[in-house]
Amino acid sequence: MPILHGVILHGVILTVTAGSWVVLPVPMLTWATTTPCRRRHTRRMTTTLITGANKGLGYESARRLIEAGHTVWMGARDAGRGQQAADALGGRFVHLDVTSDASVAAAADTVAAAGGLDVLINNAGISGPHSPGAEQTAADALSVYGTNVVGVVRMIRAFAPLLRASNAPTIVNVTSGLGSFAFVHDPERIESRVNAPLYTSSKSAVTMLTVQYAKAFPEMRVNAADPGYTATDLNGNNGMQTVHEGTDAIVDLATRGGEGPTGTFIDRSGVAPF
Ligand SMILES: NC(=O)c1ccc[n+]([C@@H]2O[C@H](COP(=O)([O-])OP(=O)(O)OC[C@H]3O[C@@H](n4cnc5c(N)ncnc54)[C@H](OP(=O)(O)O)[C@@H]3O)[C@@H](O)[C@H]2O)c1
Repeated sequence: MPILHGVILHGVILTVTAGSWVVLPVPMLTWATTTPCRRRHTRRMTTTLITGANKGLGYESARRLIEAGHTVWMGARDAGRGQQAADALGGRFVHLDVTSDASVAAAADTVAAAGGLDVLINNAGISGPHSPGAEQTAADALSVYGTNVVGVVRMIRAFAPLLRASNAPTIVNVTSGLGSFAFVHDPERIESRVNAPLYTSSKSAVTMLTVQYAKAFPEMRVNAADPGYTATDLNGNNGMQTVHEGTDAIVDLATRGGEGPTGTFIDRSGVAPF
């Protein structure tokens, strides 16, 4: 493996920490079923909402899903950049800050009034501080978890009623291999060379939220996608994949039409270990 000191992954400085890892058993996501969704009523078009869609993986997911025929709501916390992104792709802009109850509730009202929702993609995320792991604070933790974890909970709580009315309700949570016990202990994987306690653990939480929401909403397909290390603003555009490659797993999960397993964690190569 190359020496990776100083490389930025997910917006954090990589440090070689393999010598200090304690090797733990590697659990796999075990709760998955191929039971298809119950059908309630039929809508011809698939309507999809993506959080953080004004740039990066969210924007490319919107582009690909619009190309695939979805009606796409592009959520963004900045109205100017969000509207510009939606205009560029032929999407629908909706103001959406995942850290705000009022913003998320207003977005749910907007989407409901326009006809409902089939696919929710919880993509918005932040890397958190770039400081050494040992120096990261409780305030930093509240900020990272507030967006990456609590934001997902807030979105699912607000949009579950709309999804329940769909004939193919689907939730895609954008997580990361950096939240995978297996990957961070595998010396062959770049994830094993990252020390970023808050971002990585927030993504572990997103993956487990996926499993738990799959159990809570058996009528929905709830799965987690790891984009892989992709060049976006999140990591100073140092990622090794293109955004097209980085959205393969997201687009896969968003286009299954309510079929397939639920409670799984995949990357662009297929089912990934948690
Ligand atoms: N890039 C990678 O290598 C990689 C790998 C694994 C997982 N991921 C995950 O992929 C997702 C997308 O990341 P990206 O790489 O595309 O990063 P990005 O280019 O920085 O995009 C992040 C998006 O999230 C939005 N966002 C941040 N906080 C928000 C909030 N409170 N409310 C609404 N939107 C908010 C940002 O909006 P603003 O423009 O307003 O900041 C932006 O649109 C994240 O969940 C990230 O953790 C990325």
